[in-house]
Amino acid sequence: MKRLAGKVALVTGAASGIGRAVALRLADEGAFVVATDAAVEVAATADAISDAGGRARAAVMDITDRARVDGVLAELRAEESAPDVLVNCAGWDRMQPFVENSPELWDKVIDINLKGPVTCCRAVLDDMIAAGGGKIISIGSDAGRVGSTGETVYAGCKGGIISFSKSLAREVARHKINVNVVCPGPTDTPLWWGMVEGGSEKLMDALIKSIPFRRLAQPEEIAAAVAFFASPDADYVTGQVLSVSGGLTMVD
Ligand SMILES: NC(=O)c1ccc[n+]([C@@H]2O[C@H](COP(=O)([O-])OP(=O)(O)OC[C@H]3O[C@@H](n4cnc5c(N)ncnc54)[C@H](O)[C@@H]3O)[C@@H](O)[C@H]2O)c1
Repeated sequence: MKRLAGKVALVTGAASGIGRAVALRLADEGAFVVATDAAVEVAATADAISDAGGRARAAVMDITDRARVDGVLAELRAEESAPDVLVNCAGWDRMQPFVENSPELWDKVIDINLKGPVTCCRAVLDDMIAAGGGKIISIGSDAGRVGSTGETVYAGCKGGIISFSKSLAREVARHKINVNVVCPGPTDTPLWWGMVEGGSEKLMDALIKSIPFRRLAQPEEIAAAVAFFASPDADYVTGQVLSVSGGLTMVD
């Protein structure tokens, strides 16, 4: 029996990188996947799932647009079923020293990385409470656990998502809703390569050498941790933060 058979899983940021890998993995675990993203390319993720024999639909959904998020949930409720699982993967950042950031950049980073997941959590909760259970997994970052130079406001948002998730986990435990966070270290995705673009090769080498496993994560390795938290295997796990970083960070 597949671990997520009969479950509906909504994934944000599913057009690319980690979100795409999560969507494919949850479908492989038996879930009906609602692959969402601000980018229209998310349709290709749903197609890839169907091609592999899974069930999925795609929806263009910008997580900073609360009305659109609520609209997608309403459509889903009417046509399929409200999500049993929410995975907040959508994210964005630009490497830059804090003193060079513009307030417009802060707003964009906060809207996508902090307010977006908060909006999506709120949007799914009434249905999860009515259903008597659910699983929420947010993609944080090691930047949010230990800090990261050049990603100051982003790290603040990811740290915010960690404490938001722990607090929400306490509030909704009585409804059998689990809320957990997966924190990737450097992962081989377009976001990562976009951020290091222009950085020196020497710096990249030094970073990779500082990872005990001496390589970037593959998106599928982050998806494996998400699949655990989404599954009944994690029924008794909530308010937790798992770093999937090849050992780069080992603090509690
Ligand atoms: N790649 C890394 O090294 C790394 C490390 C730690 C954490 N993360 C986190 O992992 C998550 C996935 O990142 P990735 O590396 O796969 O990046 P990615 O750029 O490959 O994918 C991110 C996706 O989010 C979508 N997105 C951006 N803004 C959106 C919005 N407002 N609404 C809906 N979708 C939006 C993008 O269109 C894109 O498809 C992010 O939350 C990121 O912060 C990544």
